[in-house]
Amino acid sequence: MNFICTGCGKETPVTTLEPACSCGGLFELGFTPPAWDEKLIDRDEWSLFRYRAFMAIEGDAWRSVTMGEGRTPVIRFSDDILVKMDYMAPTLSFKDRGAAALVAHMKQIGVKRCVQDSSGNAGVAVAAYGARAGIECEIYVPEGTSPKKITMIEAFGARAVVVPGTRDHCADVCRAKVRETGAYYANHVFNPFFYEGTKTYIYELMEQLHRIPENLFIELGNGTLFIGAVKALEHLLASGAIDHFPQVIAVQGENCAPFAETVEAGAEELVSIVPKPTMAEGIAIGKPARAAEILGMIQRHGIRVVTAPEDRILDARARLARRGIYAEHTTAAALAAYDRYCSIYGRTPDSLLSMCSAGIKSDH
Ligand SMILES: Cc1ncc(COP(=O)(O)O)c(C=O)c1O
Ligand SMILES: [Zn+2]
Repeated sequence: MNFICTGCGKETPVTTLEPACSCGGLFELGFTPPAWDEKLIDRDEWSLFRYRAFMAIEGDAWRSVTMGEGRTPVIRFSDDILVKMDYMAPTLSFKDRGAAALVAHMKQIGVKRCVQDSSGNAGVAVAAYGARAGIECEIYVPEGTSPKKITMIEAFGARAVVVPGTRDHCADVCRAKVRETGAYYANHVFNPFFYEGTKTYIYELMEQLHRIPENLFIELGNGTLFIGAVKALEHLLASGAIDHFPQVIAVQGENCAPFAETVEAGAEELVSIVPKPTMAEGIAIGKPARAAEILGMIQRHGIRVVTAPEDRILDARARLARRGIYAEHTTAAALAAYDRYCSIYGRTPDSLLSMCSAGIKSDH
């Protein structure tokens, strides 16, 4: 199997240890899944690898890496809202979906050491799966990352490096380290294998509900859930398993909303913004590396972008908790954004929100 460069189109075997094409372009996977068919689901496998027929998974390394991630319940929050409980995962966030797939690939190709940068949750997930695969991890996080996420990273035996400044600066520091040392870049934004895991968010919905809800609210920072979900929806549509593309609504925090501002300005390229401090730390990304790809998806599918008002996040978190759902602040932003969406577009029934991460991981 090959990576294909999104810049120049050159192909590189997926066994490469390089983070990107020699031209600097990001990789995508040269992989087309077979048409969606529930008969291809491995029903004896109680993890997201039950969908491996539709994922670019080579070899058997995943068997010793999986921790039973995925298979999260869909429950009712209100008459109009369903929530998918994606924090019911080994490290308490949806990032386990991507980390399981990425680390399985890393183990398969013999990676022994890696570095990663993250707002916290992806770093926690890569550290846990890295521990399981016997891969040494160094995780770069921006200052202000929840101490609980750092404690988890260290508990898994990884080294946590706290970088002063913004999340974007943290990524720059980590990427410089990759260039200097040649360490494997186990990054959820650069490495397309991560999306092979996040695709299963949609495959699971299809298996659980036998349909896709009309309105899917998906948080959008770097876009790991967003890109995986859109790819899987495109796959279902091309397979004839769904007859139309649902309304996807990308959720950003109002204090760091580059996609919302780009769409509003009608700009072709991502507008430059200055991120302000936000409680929605998980989606506080000012310069997402896959911005062009994400903007293409937004245009292709009429995806709307809505922002969560900063001053409504705590209230949304409390309302979730009153229904038994203890979510982190970034996750509560999805409910705050849902309310704003309804105030713009009217009542929005048959909506599904992702409960991406557990409340126990954030403390503000
Ligand atoms: C709780 C939470 N929700 C949503 C996201 C969004 O993921 P992404 O930045 O890949 O779009 C993250 C990312 O870290 C997160 O931690
Ligand atoms: Zn290239």
